[in-house]
Amino acid sequence: MKLTIFGATGGTGASLVGQALAAGHQVTAVVRDPARLAVPAALAAPGGLAAPGGLAAPGGLAAPGGLAAPGGLDIPGALTVPARGQFLVVTADVMQPAAITAAVASADAVLSALGPHGTGRTTVLRDSARAIIEAMHEAGASRLLTISGSIVADEGEGPFMRYLLKPAARRTFLRHVCADLRGAEDEVRASQLDWTIIRPPRLTGGAAAGTYRTAIDSNLPRGLTISRADLAACMLALLDDADTIGRHVAIAR
Ligand SMILES: NC(=O)c1ccc[n+]([C@@H]2O[C@H](COP(=O)([O-])OP(=O)(O)OC[C@H]3O[C@@H](n4cnc5c(N)ncnc54)[C@H](OP(=O)(O)O)[C@@H]3O)[C@@H](O)[C@H]2O)c1
Repeated sequence: MKLTIFGATGGTGASLVGQALAAGHQVTAVVRDPARLAVPAALAAPGGLAAPGGLAAPGGLAAPGGLAAPGGLDIPGALTVPARGQFLVVTADVMQPAAITAAVASADAVLSALGPHGTGRTTVLRDSARAIIEAMHEAGASRLLTISGSIVADEGEGPFMRYLLKPAARRTFLRHVCADLRGAEDEVRASQLDWTIIRPPRLTGGAAAGTYRTAIDSNLPRGLTISRADLAACMLALLDDADTIGRHVAIAR
């Protein structure tokens, strides 16, 4: 499939890119700073990719300032890895719909792993969701998968989480992030796109366990953590799962 991934410089986003490429998808990663993009393991194959300060490819990097990718996508400022022809990096401001419309134009699915840095005041999630949705409507793209968080909802939780821990977190250190998550969810639900909202608990690093629990429109009891790698794997597994369109999918170990 042709996938456009936002937040590819982040933990989950990098895992998404790597797993998607390994699975044979064509990936367009939209980033604000390509220097922060880790070279996916899937690309560090024969011929190698070295990446001091950015991307390099066996055949050399196509010149910044605009190029046509193998699929014919022509985006000013885009870099590509021509030897593979399946990985395109687009430098753009995700908050500007006009700047990202071309990047989502031919996507079978758009995935966002964007998120705020820290727990302070933020509108990153809501603003980026609004911009991505506007760009998708403009481009005629329809499938959207976004990451939210289990903190926003109580359905499925036991009494300790529902009545003590989560309300306390929402009142204190997670209040700004939670408000932004809820705002983004509102945008996505109102988008009239074929959306799926994935709600993980606390994210951890490390390798994919390969097994995880999911639930539709309800959190998972004792679902305290999930690795970013398993979250990414779950998102890719949901790409063409019609049963999750218009639904919230909880995931946890
Ligand atoms: N951390 C947790 O325990 C937890 C729990 C539940 C849900 N979540 C959610 O899970 C998602 C993925 O989390 P993560 O920890 O993998 O993400 P992360 O590593 O923090 O990465 C965040 C991504 O968002 C991008 N970003 C942030 N602000 C931006 C802006 N103003 N403009 C453009 N891009 C911006 C970053 O780009 P740069 O590299 O350019 O900054 C990066 O690619 C997030 O939505 C997060 O809210 C996290």
